[in-house]
Amino acid sequence: MNQSKDTTDRLTCLEERILYLEEANRHYVAILDMLASSSDFQADLNRDKSTEGIFRATLTQIARLFSFEAMGLLENREDKSFVLTVCEPSSCRDELSVDIDMAIMDGIFAWALNRNQSVTAPTASGSHTLLFRVIETRTCIRGMFIGRLRGNLAHIDAPSLNALSNVLLTTAYAMESSTLYDLLEGNLHNLGQKVQERTAELLAARDMAEASARELKAANKKLCREIVERKRAEDELLKTQKLESLGVFAGGIAHDFNNIFTAILGNLSFARMQISPSDKIAKRLEECEKATMRASELTRHLLTFARGGEPAKKLINTTLLIKEATSLVLLGSNVVSAIDLADDLWCVKADAGQLSQALHNLLINARQAMCENGEVTVRGANETMAPDNPQRLPPGAYVKIIVEDDGCGIPQENLGRIFDPYFTTKSQGSGLGLASVYSIVKRHGGTIEVSSTVRVGSSFTIYLPASPDRIPEAAVVKKVAESVSGGRVLIMDDEEIIREIVAEILQYLGYYVESCSDGREAVDRFRKARESNTPFSVVILDLTVPGGMGGKEAAPLILEVDPDAVLIVSSGYSNDPVIANYRHYGFRGVISKPFNTGTLAGELGRLIDKKAECR
Ligand SMILES: Nc1ncnc2c1ncn2[C@@H]1O[C@H](COP(=O)(O)OP(=O)(O)O)[C@@H](O)[C@H]1O
Ligand SMILES: [Mg+2]
Repeated sequence: MNQSKDTTDRLTCLEERILYLEEANRHYVAILDMLASSSDFQADLNRDKSTEGIFRATLTQIARLFSFEAMGLLENREDKSFVLTVCEPSSCRDELSVDIDMAIMDGIFAWALNRNQSVTAPTASGSHTLLFRVIETRTCIRGMFIGRLRGNLAHIDAPSLNALSNVLLTTAYAMESSTLYDLLEGNLHNLGQKVQERTAELLAARDMAEASARELKAANKKLCREIVERKRAEDELLKTQKLESLGVFAGGIAHDFNNIFTAILGNLSFARMQISPSDKIAKRLEECEKATMRASELTRHLLTFARGGEPAKKLINTTLLIKEATSLVLLGSNVVSAIDLADDLWCVKADAGQLSQALHNLLINARQAMCENGEVTVRGANETMAPDNPQRLPPGAYVKIIVEDDGCGIPQENLGRIFDPYFTTKSQGSGLGLASVYSIVKRHGGTIEVSSTVRVGSSFTIYLPASPDRIPEAAVVKKVAESVSGGRVLIMDDEEIIREIVAEILQYLGYYVESCSDGREAVDRFRKARESNTPFSVVILDLTVPGGMGGKEAAPLILEVDPDAVLIVSSGYSNDPVIANYRHYGFRGVISKPFNTGTLAGELGRLIDKKAECR
C-alpha cells in the first residue's frame, strides 16, 4: 500500500517535472525563436525611425517571446511626461491607461523607473499581473514597457525576462540612434542650408565683382576713347587755327597780288592787241601773259584757301560735278579713270566753284603721284551717319566722295602734315592744294580723311552734307563771243593801276571811259552823267574797297537813280557770295580779276548788245 502510494507520488512528481520541463522548453524555444527573428527586428527598427515605428516593431518582437494579454510602450517626452504611444491590441488602450495611472499612484511606476530590471505587480482586482520594464540606455530613460498577464507570474522565468530586457535595450538604442540621426540630419540640413547661403553670397559677390570689373573695363575703354577723341579734336582745332591765321596773312598778300596781276595781264594783253600777231614781241608777250596767268592761278588758290568767304551754296548735281572734274583733270594724261558712282547719288548744297576746285586739287595730286601713269578711281556713295560716328560729324545724310590712286603713296611721317599750307614734297609744288581742299570741305560742314600706303597708293575720302532736294538740270554754259561796241563806261576801282589799264583797254576798244576810286563817287558820277543827258551804258564796280564804299553798297544806290543801269561787279574773290549770286545784288555781269582784254571785251559787248536788243 505504502509502496503504491510512493509510486503514485513519484509519478505525480515526475509528471509535474515533465510539465515544468515542457514549459521551460517552450520558453527556450520562444527565446530562440525571438533570437532567430532578431535580424527581422533590426530591419523593422531601421525601416521606420520614428518613435512610433520603433515601438510597433518592439511590440511585434515581444509578442514572439510572451503572450501578453495586452501590452504598451510609453514614451518619455522632453517635458518628462510619459505618454502611451502604442498598445497592442489597440482596443486595450483605455484599460492599460487605467493600469498605468494606478501604477503611478502606487509608486510602482517610479520604482520600475529606478530598477534596471523588470518589475511586476498585481492589478487591483488581483486577476492579472502587470509587468513594467524601463526602456533606457546608459545615459537616458527613453520610455517604459507595460505588459498585462493573466494570473500570477510563476511561469515567467529569468531567461525570458532577460530576453525582454535585451529587446527593450535594443529599442532604447534604436531610439537614441534615431534621435542622433535626426540631430545629424538637422545639422546636415543646417549645414547644407549654410553652404547654400554662403554659396549664394559668394555668387552674388562674384557677380558684383564681375559687374564692377565690367563697368571698370567699359569706363576705361570710354576714357581711352575720350582721350583719343580729345587728341583728335585738339589736333583738328590746332589745324583749323593754324589754317585760319595763315589764311588771314595769305589772303592779304593774295588780294594785293591779284590786283597787280590784273594790271600786268591787262597791260600785256592790251600791248599784244596793238601789234601784229606775227611780230616777234607778240610771242614774248604771250609767254608773259601765260606766266602771269599761272601766277594768278596761285593767288586764286591762296584766296580760296584763305578766305573764300562763306561758300555761295546752291543745289549741286554731285554726279555731274564729279564727272566733269575728273574728265577735265585727267584729259590728255595717261592716267586712266574709273568712276563708280551710286545711281541715285544725293545732291549737295555747295559752292560749285569751290567744290570742283577741291576735286581738282585731289585729282591733280593723284595724277602727279602716279607720274602721269596709273589709274585713279573716283567713287561716290550715299552714307547716313549715325550719332557718335567715327568722323565726328553731326548725324544725317552725307555724300561720300573717294579719290583713290595707285601712286607713290604718302610716308607715315608726312600724313599729319599734308594739309598744312605750304607743305609740299614736290619741287614745283605750292603746298596749297590740300590746305584748300581742307578749308573748302570744312566750310561746307564736311570732313576729309586720308589713308595711304607707300608704293601702293592713297585714298582721300570727303564727306559732304547731302541735300534732300532733287537733282537740278545741268547748267547751260553759254559762250559769249567777243564783240566790240561803243558806249560810255564808268569804272570804279580803288587800285589806280587797274583803273588805268582798264580805261586804256576800253578806250582802245572804242568806249568812252571815266573812272573813280570809290562807290560814293561812282554814284555821284552816274547821277550827274544822267542829268546832263550823257548816261553811262555800263558801270564796272570793284566789290571791295578798303575804307570806302564797295560795289555791293553802291549798286542799289545807282539802281535807285536808274533801275535799268547795267552794272558789272569785278572781284578777285571768285568765291564771294556776291560774285556767285551777282544777279541777286543787282549786277548783270561779273568779271573775275585778273582778267585779260578778251574777257573784258566779251562781258561788256554781251551786256551792251543785250541792252540794245531790249530797246
Ligand atoms: N595722292 C597723293 N599721293 C601721294 N602724295 C600726295 C598725294 N596728295 C598729296 N600728297 C602729298 O601731300 C603734299 C601736299 O599736297 P598739296 O597740298 O596738294 O600740295 P602740292 O601738290 O603743291 O605739293 C604733296 O606734296 C605730296 O607730298
Ligand atoms: Mg597739289
